[in-house]
Amino acid sequence: MIVTTAQLFKHAYGKYAVGAYNINNAEQAMGLFKGAIQSKAPFIIQISKGARAYTDKRMLEAIIRAAGEIFPEAIYAVHLDHGDEATCYDCIDSGFFSSVMIDASHDPFEENVAITKRVVDKAHAKGLSVEAELGMLGGVEEDIKVEEGNACLTDPAEAEDFVKKTGCDSLACAIGTSHGAFKFKGRQSLHFDVLDKIKAKLPGFPLVMHGSSSVPKDEVDRINKAGGTIKDSMGVDPAEYLPAAKRGVTKVNIDTDGRLVWTRVHREYFQAKPGDFDFRPPGKIFIVEYANFIASRNILLGSAGQLDDLRKSLGK
Ligand code: G3H
Ligand code: 13P
Ligand code: ZN
Repeated sequence: MIVTTAQLFKHAYGKYAVGAYNINNAEQAMGLFKGAIQSKAPFIIQISKGARAYTDKRMLEAIIRAAGEIFPEAIYAVHLDHGDEATCYDCIDSGFFSSVMIDASHDPFEENVAITKRVVDKAHAKGLSVEAELGMLGGVEEDIKVEEGNACLTDPAEAEDFVKKTGCDSLACAIGTSHGAFKFKGRQSLHFDVLDKIKAKLPGFPLVMHGSSSVPKDEVDRINKAGGTIKDSMGVDPAEYLPAAKRGVTKVNIDTDGRLVWTRVHREYFQAKPGDFDFRPPGKIFIVEYANFIASRNILLGSAGQLDDLRKSLGK
């Protein structure tokens, strides 16, 4: 059953975070739905602009529709990840998405407000929720100086002003994470102090944490043992997901970790069987491994086991 992120956040707020997982193909979709059912967790399935362009934007929608029929007990939102204004409008018009993210965080504050407000007006008119972003994730990892790194983090007073001016439904905040497999150099912790200040300014308002992959060391080691050359990787400590959830983070974005599962499975498979060229055997292994990964993350997020209670609270 497709629901809005607002419905998911209402149930989760202050108790647990909903995992938001990116998909690009049928194998990821199967693993995601299987893992969610295995762990009895609601989830957010997210599609980036790149994912829509990978095959055809209609392909992923068709895959998700099919997965919804194969797993009728699943409760999830369908979300555009890091949309620009035009892609947001395209997804709003598609009639399939339950929420969109407008990412104008690289624009100056007033420009970000103006773009976000336009998207909010169009989305709300059609019953979709909008995630916006304030602060910049990217720069934080490249900067080892804390003072300069802090300059990229979300300013709590600005966050309050931004939400008031735009009417967005959730806010992606920069609290020390960044996208990809190389998040930290020498330090590994979220800025809980900043999160506390944002929560104090925006009590009850759903916050979103991007760049939340944990980049497991054993996964990277296995990839490298099977021919990979991933160096100096570091992710978010997954033990920090729940403390973040208690501070108002209701959506935790995880993509890179899924790519690592895919890479490990396929590298190991073809290294062990260099003469093989049928992609279905490793594809099947990936689906099972990705499902197990999703279930393990949902346990750490606190979303595991919430499905029945959520269903009741939705009156379904
Ligand atoms: O935050 C970005 C997500 O990991 C999606 O990545 O734009 O390469 O699909 P992508
Ligand atoms: P990771 O690169 O840490 O998986 O972050 C994904 C993300 O934020 C998608 O929007
Ligand atoms: Zn992101």
